[in-house]
Amino acid sequence: MAYSEQVIDHYENPRNVGGFEATDDEVGTGMVGAPACGDVMKLQIKVNPATGVIEDARFKTYGCGSAIASSSLVTEWVKGKTLDQALEIKNTAIAEELALPPVKIHCSILAEDAIKAAVSDYRTRHLGGSGTLEKAACAPADAHSHAA
Ligand code: FES
Repeated sequence: MAYSEQVIDHYENPRNVGGFEATDDEVGTGMVGAPACGDVMKLQIKVNPATGVIEDARFKTYGCGSAIASSSLVTEWVKGKTLDQALEIKNTAIAEELALPPVKIHCSILAEDAIKAAVSDYRTRHLGGSGTLEKAACAPADAHSHAA
């Protein structure tokens, strides 16, 4: 099966690879796994606490080309969005942008799930936020932990 040009572009020039300190108060971390193939995706968002806008994003994906391309793409898409707007990013839009074939749709679902997990991690850590949070110790930092 041939990868689309868009997938190859993101695969060869991935955007925003890496990570933030998971203990950073402004960071939300999403770690998701695809049970079918064992691929794992970690997506982190950096949120401006005053505006609620995602200002930066990073990813690390241990997976196929489509999973890497999907996560690279969503790091670009979430930037400048509010958390609610980021949650509106659908896997179908990712799959369409990357021209993913049907067998690779689950790779784009992984990216949508990673956004949801990162937003939910950020929100959980800021729930009831009475001022500054203590350093959270609950953020997943282990590439082998699957949320699925
Ligand atoms: Fe499973 Fe792509 S083959 S994420």
